[in-house]
Amino acid sequence: MSRILDGAAVGRQIKSEVAARVADLRQRGIQPGLAAVLVGEHPASAVYVKNKVQACAELGIYSRRVDLPATITTPELLDQIRLLNGDEAIDGILVQLPLPQQVESRVILNAVDPQKDVDGFHPENVGRLCANSPGLRPCTPVGIMELLKRERIEVRGREAVVVGRSDIVGKPLALLLLHQSATVTICHSRTVDLPAVCRRADLLFAAMGKAGFVTADFVKPGAVLVDVGINRVTDAGQAEQFFGGTPRMEDFRAKGAILIGDVHPRAHSVASAYTPVPGGVGPLTIAMLMANTLQAAVARRGLN
Ligand code: GUN
Repeated sequence: MSRILDGAAVGRQIKSEVAARVADLRQRGIQPGLAAVLVGEHPASAVYVKNKVQACAELGIYSRRVDLPATITTPELLDQIRLLNGDEAIDGILVQLPLPQQVESRVILNAVDPQKDVDGFHPENVGRLCANSPGLRPCTPVGIMELLKRERIEVRGREAVVVGRSDIVGKPLALLLLHQSATVTICHSRTVDLPAVCRRADLLFAAMGKAGFVTADFVKPGAVLVDVGINRVTDAGQAEQFFGGTPRMEDFRAKGAILIGDVHPRAHSVASAYTPVPGGVGPLTIAMLMANTLQAAVARRGLN
């Protein structure tokens, strides 16, 4: 039987630790604050931002949601970022991605004060990650490392294969694994014989954003499978292909949609442990955003 890595439980644990530190700071008159910037009405982004604001409320962190029109220009959005950079009540600034086409995302992300960059996307923080020096790290990769640590999964000396080379997950995750002395391979859409490379992995990370793409033949028996994908399937045939004969097909029939990761559910039984979707990596991202906001609040005041 393979073990389920319960990201939701670990996320709750991290959030309760953050809440305790926030309560302590508030006793000293300090309240960490997060600004979440949402441009336009991207439905998934609206849900993510709502969840982030709700998590702040649960933990005693001040939050401010900044809703801006989809027609905004790069200079107009830059003005908003500069206001938040100078706002004493704000310790963390999160610009929800993707931004509309006419906005130059890189220009915007580079304008966020590195000390308030709770997503870890600013080049200064990317450089700090690369050099393994202290700084704010991207939430999803750092959440995955926290999950591995708390679940006592050894990283040092093991073969880690990361599928996906995004700036948000694949690249920073590979660096964090490297810093913990894993032997790291990054794969992508041009990798030759992807299943064979993945079968080398003791730790396999699926972060390419393709529903159920990692099948059983990608997985070395006993490997640990971490699934970063969140894909919404609305096609009955596709749902049947992934979940046919399982109780989750009932969920699909009731709701007309179902979430699936980048790992095919039938690959799970080959692994020694795996993260489910939903309830695996997702809850860790929000928990680490809260932890990063706390870290930024403490560092900005020179506390510790
Ligand atoms: N969109 C998808 N993932 C993320 C993330 O981690 N941070 C931000 N800001 N936007 C995202």
